[in-house]
Amino acid sequence: MTIDLGHHGDTEVGDGLIDLAVNVRHEPMPSWLAEPIAAALTSLRAYPDETEARAAVAARHGRDPSEVLLTAGAAQAFVLLAQALRTARRPVVVHPQFTEPEAALRHAGHVVERVLLREADGFRLDPALVPADADLVFVGNPTNPTSVLHPAADLAALARPGRVLVVDEAFADTTYRPGVAGEPESLAGRRDLPGLVVLRSLTKTWGLAGLRIGYALGPADLLARLAAAQPLWAVSTPALAAALACASPVAVAAEREIAARLAAERDHLVSGLRAMPGVTVAGRPESAFVALRLAGADKVRLELRGRGYAVRRGDTFPGLVADWLRVAVRDTATTDAFLATLDDILKEGL
Ligand SMILES: Cc1ncc(COP(=O)(O)O)c(C=O)c1O
Repeated sequence: MTIDLGHHGDTEVGDGLIDLAVNVRHEPMPSWLAEPIAAALTSLRAYPDETEARAAVAARHGRDPSEVLLTAGAAQAFVLLAQALRTARRPVVVHPQFTEPEAALRHAGHVVERVLLREADGFRLDPALVPADADLVFVGNPTNPTSVLHPAADLAALARPGRVLVVDEAFADTTYRPGVAGEPESLAGRRDLPGLVVLRSLTKTWGLAGLRIGYALGPADLLARLAAAQPLWAVSTPALAAALACASPVAVAAEREIAARLAAERDHLVSGLRAMPGVTVAGRPESAFVALRLAGADKVRLELRGRGYAVRRGDTFPGLVADWLRVAVRDTATTDAFLATLDDILKEGL
């Protein structure tokens, strides 16, 4: 079977369904974010000027502005990498993970090699699985759809001269460990690792999927190559206003609070799922979604739709089979209602 790499959770929502398929937070936008975005609408006559936003993002991550490339969502960065690094000889994508890096590579003409992480290992990265001569490597951390957070040291072990190592941290702001200040296992501030490009998204936690804003962090010379492949004025003025606002200390502190709450909500979902006979939760989830395996997942998914819930099919992720679903972490009331519905379906025995 050919896997549809272009399938995404947004095609599974609609029809008044409760959305557990798309991993974008649903809470209202805080005023410190909504106001600058709205204010930007008064200056749309001018072409975008990214200077301030870029400097703010750089300061947030302890980097020089030349080490930041603002993009129309993290998704644009996959395309820029695939296009700008056409000379890569052995591109490798570590799966299961978000499908767009592989789709972008294929579209640019690359022959892509997959490294498949195994359920038996909790979908944890084993750096030894990546071929030594792979010169372009894509890994997600935390990983969509497994929600697994790889240790920073294992990722760092993959960096080496002559290789571009792309770590997709689109969901890093959702990770949290009690007693750890900041995002556990993030490489965003690491300037010492050769060829490391970290991708970040502002569309998930801040509910800005429709605005398209994210960025790449990495060596200035490498980012200059990506910038050369980027369309002119790729990031709009309202998106730049969002990037500036989301880089502020207020935003970063808010992210940490959201991540702490999310951790409790995720634990609630995971323990409810693990209590259900026949349901297996992948690895140790540490992000805004959970992958689960159960027999007849496709029928269960359709039955859930019939009862008002959209969940993400898992079989379009390389490395997962038809038994997998992905479910977003929501508030505990939504989770409880979902768990009760799933329990009913499983007890009715499809
Ligand atoms: C792991 C991962 N990376 C990147 C993206 C793209 O995010 P953006 O909206 O910033 O383009 C997504 C979107 O679903 C994702 O799941």
